[in-house]
Amino acid sequence: MTDANLTLHDFTALLASFEAEAAPAMTGAASADALDAVRATYLGRAHGWLKDLSAKLGQLEKADRGAAGKAFNEVRLRVEAALEARRTELSPRREAGTLADPSMPARRSWVGAVHPVSQVLDEMIEIFRELGFTIALGPEVETPWYNFGALNFPPDHPAMDLHDTLYISDDAVLRTHTSPVQVRTLQAWAPPIRVLIPGNVHRRDPFDASHAPTFAQVEGLVVDEGITFADLKATLTHFAKRFFGATKTRFRPSYFPFTEPSAEMDVLCGVCDGSGCGVCKQSGWIEILGSGLVHPSVLESAGVDSEKYTGWAFGMGPGRTAMARHGIPDIRILYDSDVRFLSQFAR
Ligand code: DAH
Repeated sequence: MTDANLTLHDFTALLASFEAEAAPAMTGAASADALDAVRATYLGRAHGWLKDLSAKLGQLEKADRGAAGKAFNEVRLRVEAALEARRTELSPRREAGTLADPSMPARRSWVGAVHPVSQVLDEMIEIFRELGFTIALGPEVETPWYNFGALNFPPDHPAMDLHDTLYISDDAVLRTHTSPVQVRTLQAWAPPIRVLIPGNVHRRDPFDASHAPTFAQVEGLVVDEGITFADLKATLTHFAKRFFGATKTRFRPSYFPFTEPSAEMDVLCGVCDGSGCGVCKQSGWIEILGSGLVHPSVLESAGVDSEKYTGWAFGMGPGRTAMARHGIPDIRILYDSDVRFLSQFAR
């Protein structure tokens, strides 16, 4: 039994003559319109030659249909490729000389760069890691007690004012500094403690050339028996030498509720070598951090025996550090994600 009236040999011959005619017709089409007409003749879905050939597949012996179908598809793909190649050659962009012109210069690809603030952060972490510090993190939404109370802020301290701090509710604030993580760390771990605490903090500041409402801080905390101000000074001086290659550093007395005594640390301005310039605002020095011995009442708030243990802490801003390092005059550019700015920091 068979309804076959076409042999595989005949079908293959039909395919060959189709290809022999269709492919050169595609290649030879002189315009996009001519190519469309050629396409309709040979590949048109309704009445094209290829459509007729596919109908003939049904006239073959069942056993031959597999091989015939495969040959059919191969020819179809080659003719379609000839069509697409010619279409590309005839496209208006090609005519204007902007496509696939081997004499055109290659388009430069954008290569990302680590953000200058992240670079600073990474370097800071690496230097303290070498000294045996581990990383601790804390929540950005804090209770007023962790953010202020446990850190020995008096109840009427202006920092707690609605004017300066973003309150989410009566008992939730966006942390204004990373210092609350000191308290959380002391509650969670027993001394000896040596931690570095990077994180974002939030203040109710206008977004201007020198203030951002959200910025990064890095906090450090060391608590053990017998820790003194000498440990603070030696460690932070080592850090300044490593990080800034600083030739000179100085400590100035300062005040923070959570440290006593407190000190700010300056490094000699690397841009002018201390003679005064725009970067150091003519002072010759750049302030890099606040620090001090952890106030006994902070240790006690966290449940640490302040008779037995002492500690020191510091806080610094990698954003300001990056600005000083690169002479960046406006903090807002750090937030713009402008690839023309950022690509300068590729290493
Ligand atoms: N928390 C302070 C601020 O945000 C920075 C700071 C100063 C942190 C002194 C400290 C410190 O740990 O000892 O301005």
